[in-house]
Amino acid sequence: MTTTPRRTRRLALLTSGDDCAGLNAIMRAVVLRAAQLDWEVTGMLYGTHGLLGDDPQTVPLRPEHTDTVMMRQGGTILGTTNKGDPFAYVMPDGSVKDRSWEIIENFRKTGCDALIGIGGDGSLPILLRLSELGGIPLICVPKTIDNNVCMTETSVGFNTAVAVATEALDRLQPTAASHDRIMVLEVMGRGAGHIALAAGIAGGADVILLPEIPYDIDVVTDHLRKVRKPGHNFGLVVVSEAARPKGGTVQTHVMQDGQVRLGGVGQVIGAQIGELCQAETRVTVLGHVQRGGQPSAWDRLTAAAFGVRAVELLNAGQSGRMVAWSQRGVADVLIADVINKGSHPVGADDSLVRAARGLGICLGDQPA
Ligand code: F6P
Repeated sequence: MTTTPRRTRRLALLTSGDDCAGLNAIMRAVVLRAAQLDWEVTGMLYGTHGLLGDDPQTVPLRPEHTDTVMMRQGGTILGTTNKGDPFAYVMPDGSVKDRSWEIIENFRKTGCDALIGIGGDGSLPILLRLSELGGIPLICVPKTIDNNVCMTETSVGFNTAVAVATEALDRLQPTAASHDRIMVLEVMGRGAGHIALAAGIAGGADVILLPEIPYDIDVVTDHLRKVRKPGHNFGLVVVSEAARPKGGTVQTHVMQDGQVRLGGVGQVIGAQIGELCQAETRVTVLGHVQRGGQPSAWDRLTAAAFGVRAVELLNAGQSGRMVAWSQRGVADVLIADVINKGSHPVGADDSLVRAARGLGICLGDQPA
């Protein structure tokens, strides 16, 4: 009797949306666990973009490619993109086209049986729709410095971004004190103030301004005048890029390619603080420094645990699930539920909001 050898199963791995620290650490964990369970891994280049056009852009990912350097490396060795929703793809002539089937066809050409997608709140709905349309088993791993993905206590990349922003405050404080200055630090986070709140508390800010709590500039400047005294001759203000005044709007700017990006609120409030507090004020915009560089130990740990669980879920025949961090361990939840819940903002009564208020930090809405 002859037995036909079982075909090695192949899983595709891609990073989608904005990069952050810890993506390569997730990939390393996926490749190592996949090898143990007899799966081959194919990396898809530039997220779903690499699956547009005539041929899929792929690279093999084998255990021998995953030395420990990969775990420490920032960015994503596969490349990524935060543009081009395949269901509403803007073509060079400005027309909008549904290119989802092109992606599904190209995915089939790769010979892969399943997909692990590493992405944030923008990527999850796209990947789930592609998986459902194409019948592609899918497991997602949450990543984003913004930490706004629902149903997980943390996303890979957030902890590193907080560490970078905290270090920025550690560096701004001595120079502020040396010159009797007020320093404004603008941080990323889109519509969620998690980075600003966490780094502001950890870095000893006097004022933290979040998108979720519109500020009153008079409340902010009254507080700064009050806290600046002998022994504390400086001021530290952390402002989230989407913070806005009560009744006002967010600051944005248009990029060369026409895309609108958040940013500029630091300069606006820096000028107002300078004038109303009669204090020398300087503004630092931290920008993409928060996304690049080595992942923190915590991001490497969650990356490892998430990557391993993602492979185990696929291996168990699961699909449509996202790995998550919950109650001190890895869990998994339905991607559809995560999408339905929308973005996860800072809540008015969150523990860290209460902690900030309890420390006498002004959140811009009321006297501290
Ligand atoms: O979502 C991550 C993030 O870094 C946001 O915090 C920020 O607003 C945005 O991406 C910046 O996007 P880009 O890299 O396209 O400038």
